[in-house]
Amino acid sequence: MKKNNPIGIFDSGVGGSSIWQEIHKLLPFENTIYLADSKNAPYGNKSSEEITTLSIKNTEKLLDLGAKIIVVACNTATTNAITNLRENYDIPFIGIEPAIKPAALLTNSKSIGILATKGTLSSALFSKITQEFKKDTNVVEIIGEGLVPLIEAGNLNGPEMISLLKKHTKAMIAANVDYVVLGCSHYPYLIPQLKKILPENVTIIDSGEAVARQTKTVLQSVNLLREENTQPKLQFFTNAQTDTLRFLLKSYSEKISVEKMEF
Ligand code: SIN
Repeated sequence: MKKNNPIGIFDSGVGGSSIWQEIHKLLPFENTIYLADSKNAPYGNKSSEEITTLSIKNTEKLLDLGAKIIVVACNTATTNAITNLRENYDIPFIGIEPAIKPAALLTNSKSIGILATKGTLSSALFSKITQEFKKDTNVVEIIGEGLVPLIEAGNLNGPEMISLLKKHTKAMIAANVDYVVLGCSHYPYLIPQLKKILPENVTIIDSGEAVARQTKTVLQSVNLLREENTQPKLQFFTNAQTDTLRFLLKSYSEKISVEKMEF
């Protein structure tokens, strides 16, 4: 595998582009290929088997396109499929898990909230991660029902979104949480809206920076970091409409390409 080959990133849709932004910030010369499987979004309500089948399809496509490492920029796909992917493909995989550990270590109120999909919250990997923290911390788990389809449609700020966010944060506020963990790569696009709804003392945590750091560490360890400091190729492919990706990534529009592709 060559150092100039791209970092492959996939998500159930546009949300993993929040992770791409962190990866690009930390590794600005790396070539990247992002696959948004928006045609099949949301993954959050699908069975573990369906999520694994879709994750294999995305992996095969990224391998065809020459990916040297694959970032599963989707909590639902990570918690349901990454073990299978690691067992079956001879390439490093980076996953994204809800950042429960830092929240559980930092909380003063001993109460934290987690906003994630049904698929993530019901996965075996998620219950394994949370179990050890539940002993002395109250963990309020909320399914972010309806959020992903609105984000996929580019509706981040409308009244429908705000009323859903108010509904989903109600039990967390009542439980006096001081940390809210975002357990879905789509949700960082809702941080400004959430900050207006949550009390001022609440800190919102997402996993984007940690995923970017882990990607760098693994690329270093397998000696696959790109060495050329020239403009990288930054490609985005979606199997649905391109508008939302273009909108979310408008500040990068000069240097990225966004195209529709069947996969
Ligand atoms: C979804 O497709 O339902 C959300 C993806 C995620 O969990 O990050």
